[in-house]
Amino acid sequence: MISNILREARIYEEITEQRIPASARPSFHLSSRVGWMNDPNGFSYYQGKYHLFYQYYPYESKWGPMHWGHAVSEDLLHWQYLPAAIAPDTLADKDGCFSGSAVELPDGRQLLMYTGVSAGGWQPDGSREEIQTQCLAVGDGMDYEKYPANPVLTDADIPSGSSKVDFRDPKLWREADGTYRCVAGNRPADGSGQILLYSSPDGFQWKFESVLAENRNRFGLMWECPDFFQLDGKYVLLTSPQDMLPSGFEYHNGNGTLCLIGSFDPERKVFLEERNQAIDYGIDYYATQTLLAPDGRRIMIAWMQNWDTLAIKSLRAPWFGQMALPRELSIRNGKLYQWPIRELDALRSGHVTYQNVDFEGELTLEGIRGRKVDVTITIRPGDEANLYNKFAVWFGQDDTYHTSISFRPLESVLKIDRKFSGSRRAIIHQRRCKVPQSSGHLTFRMILDRNSVEIFVNGGEQALSATMYTDQAADGFKFFAYGKVSMDVEKYDLDMDRE
Ligand code: FRU
Repeated sequence: MISNILREARIYEEITEQRIPASARPSFHLSSRVGWMNDPNGFSYYQGKYHLFYQYYPYESKWGPMHWGHAVSEDLLHWQYLPAAIAPDTLADKDGCFSGSAVELPDGRQLLMYTGVSAGGWQPDGSREEIQTQCLAVGDGMDYEKYPANPVLTDADIPSGSSKVDFRDPKLWREADGTYRCVAGNRPADGSGQILLYSSPDGFQWKFESVLAENRNRFGLMWECPDFFQLDGKYVLLTSPQDMLPSGFEYHNGNGTLCLIGSFDPERKVFLEERNQAIDYGIDYYATQTLLAPDGRRIMIAWMQNWDTLAIKSLRAPWFGQMALPRELSIRNGKLYQWPIRELDALRSGHVTYQNVDFEGELTLEGIRGRKVDVTITIRPGDEANLYNKFAVWFGQDDTYHTSISFRPLESVLKIDRKFSGSRRAIIHQRRCKVPQSSGHLTFRMILDRNSVEIFVNGGEQALSATMYTDQAADGFKFFAYGKVSMDVEKYDLDMDRE
């Protein structure tokens, strides 16, 4: 039995989606079926397919009472929409089904764990207090039933003094012994963030275990969308902090992404931090979630937008919000590396390559253009004795528009700039990061898909993502060298209909 609220959403999305031509969306990045999309949810492999749910408000291209949209894929690139999975239609989640995750139960059903939001009692100041609890739904990959005993985790299951208003985004997984764990974001009394760890024998009965990690007001305030897993002999905690302050080149103001690498103390059940780094150094990347693929790869996805730059797109647009390209994660030299999923290679066609192009000033290259392309650029000094001052590439370029990446070898600073990418709003359009390089040698790979660019520097040591909502006719690439640069360029078209 599905509720009227869910039934209406399913009818609405099915009819309205037909008005959106495929060419008006990204091609291999999942975008909202209709209306609004934010965080990825329930990213999982279930019965032979990858499932991706998402924070979803079908009726308008702005955030509203959260449903879960749903899509499946065999290769994480060709996505097929399924009917909306859950809607805010029970007492525990009447004001929203917030972010969460999914696992397969031993009996073959899929278990969703999510945050139920409901407005609680009136406050002395006339406002209504929002309550966040953790809830379950069980289904078959298409239809889900809310667990009658929801919520399964409430303010009775958080440390005393912690916030029942900010308690969300459960990420659950199954341990080798068949029991379950989950992590959720929360706020201790100091207003900072903390990650709570819970356990369950069966996925339904949950109990508080420990405060897994504490922010102590270092990286922003509240920590949203946690994820916790082992990778290459280390433990990794990913989270998306709100209200960040920058620290040198490493973090930036607003909503950010944080990767903590360390170990796990099984006695005290706490994470022992060793290192921290930003996950993405671009403009639009938030709310990461990972899955463990059947072949053992740890694959991460994220919302390729940012709460602080939403003004970029008109609310009249029929859809808003897209996912980032799934990335394979690894740890090398103690750092998190990210690389586009290898499935992308199957979409490659139209190979064009140039080697040792020596130039100074402005340059275009025959065959290097497009808005659905995979381009790798390697630069080095054209004259080793005279380091160039700056290299830049403009892409998504025509007479009106361009987005750019520029690199200053003396400062080791890479900058992404999308102020000429069609935005009429006074929002952030640039970001800089420090990149490890040796004397002007740098390689980066760029993936463009109609409305976005994702850049992977030095084999995935750093990544930068940004959206750009410009006319697809703006598909040029232009290179600039201030001083002598020698460059290799390799380009492939990314064609979804190849197979
Ligand atoms: C992160 C977030 C989550 C929450 C969801 C609500 O972007 O704020 O913490 O569950 O979005 O849509």
